[in-house]
Amino acid sequence: MENLILTKKKVLQINEDTFILIFEEDPDFSPGQFVMMETPALVRKPFILGRWMGKTAISVKIRGKGTKYLVFEATQIRCHLPLGNPFVPPNERGMAIVSTASITMASMLNEIYGVEVLVGSRTPLVMKTPFETVVGDNAFEERIKKLDYEWYLISGSIEMEKKAWNILKKRKTEIFLALEEYMGCGIGACKSCAIQTKYGIKHVCTDGPIFRGDELCW
Ligand code: FES
Repeated sequence: MENLILTKKKVLQINEDTFILIFEEDPDFSPGQFVMMETPALVRKPFILGRWMGKTAISVKIRGKGTKYLVFEATQIRCHLPLGNPFVPPNERGMAIVSTASITMASMLNEIYGVEVLVGSRTPLVMKTPFETVVGDNAFEERIKKLDYEWYLISGSIEMEKKAWNILKKRKTEIFLALEEYMGCGIGACKSCAIQTKYGIKHVCTDGPIFRGDELCW
């Protein structure tokens, strides 16, 4: 893990409340890994790392003061990265089903491994992306029912992940879930990210953030 400063190069709005932050620097990381970013109150926030327009990028959903600061005010951000374990997709044809808050991670998987991407958004996108997008819960659920892939990676809010999981779990496919929403410190110190799995307690920051669906107690 490295402590470094990331310099914001560009901010793009994706939908009503989510933005892509593109950075000048190009640190080393793999898809699935995340960064902890410091905000003025010294609260660290986790974001799954990714790429956009060939540069290091994260997606940030506005949730409060810290995320507003990162999107609208910060120019240079103190960061700790890369954290967590890389995700290496299976060889078969698979799909990343993501919310706009994970679109940069999905973009990196697409860039490196050719993984197909489906984006689910509650509100219409205000920018063009190269990925299929469905807007609204009903359209999202209907689209998920029609998918036919060998594996899926689902990354978004817990509600969105559970919706997709409940539809896809009945099939004989591999399902992976990204759980970065659970994290506090990101480095194994606070234990706030402990989850019960079928194989005992695991920590999202050090054992994840991506888990096989069949090991979770959902
Ligand atoms: S987030 Fe603190 S131990 Fe995992």
